[in-house]
Amino acid sequence: MEDTIKKVALVTGGSRGIGRACAIELARAGLDVVINYAGNVDAASKTVEELRALGSNAEAYQFDVSNKAQVEENIAKIFEKYGRIDVLINNAGITRDGLFIRMSEENWLDVINTNLNSAYFVTNPVSKIMMKQRSGSIVNMASVVGLYGNVGQANYASAKAGIIGFTKALAKELAARSIRVNAIAPGFIQTDMTKTLPENAVAMMTEHIPLKTLGTPEDVAVVAKFLALDAKYVTGQVLGVDGGLIF
Ligand code: NAI
Repeated sequence: MEDTIKKVALVTGGSRGIGRACAIELARAGLDVVINYAGNVDAASKTVEELRALGSNAEAYQFDVSNKAQVEENIAKIFEKYGRIDVLINNAGITRDGLFIRMSEENWLDVINTNLNSAYFVTNPVSKIMMKQRSGSIVNMASVVGLYGNVGQANYASAKAGIIGFTKALAKELAARSIRVNAIAPGFIQTDMTKTLPENAVAMMTEHIPLKTLGTPEDVAVVAKFLALDAKYVTGQVLGVDGGLIF
């Protein structure tokens, strides 16, 4: 019976970059995929078209993951339409880089709210749905920066380290209901988030990566799909997708 039900995935920040690639990978695996996005309607519509072309009953929902009321309202709408949520990819994220001594309170709070508090806002209602289903899989997008820190990213490193602790605690709490919770720690991935970096900084970074190349959103997406759907005996893990940067 269970096998005949079409699974439903929610990918936050799914309109572009890593989230878009995860959404496509899950649609390829036969899931109906709901993407969330912050504001770029054109990018979201284009991604939805791509997902539908893969046979997925896809929709895009615009809401701010750092706004509790917006999240609750939209998760309720998604549940009303789809009737279940099997996979959650907590992917939406931002950077507001700067040396800590000059970091404004606004830049600290924006990053913590969007990258960490959002995980609470989104996962809280979704985990209740998964608990009733007695099944589900959650993949949180962390970062290598959450494991080893980075100059100019005290806010981002704090949020991503928080995501790793969140993953491990939640994995322990939800295991009894057959809900798995894992995290991915991407290294340097080519997306809008990283394209503003100066060329010489990119060359220097690449030199430090054992595989000597930057990653692509697809490199992360195949791992997200593996953790979300295939790795049935894996929970509470943080899997690096970083070309060997840290191990
Ligand atoms: P991106 O900037 O290309 O895409 C971010 C996505 O998040 C967009 O779809 C955007 O609409 C959405 N988003 C941002 N703020 C939002 C909000 N308040 N509410 C709803 N959606 C919001 O970024 P990228 O590179 O694809 O990153 C995705 C995730 O991967 C992020 O969590 C990021 O921290 C993480 N990551 C990225 C790395 C990289 O090298 N690109 C490395 C390590 C982690």
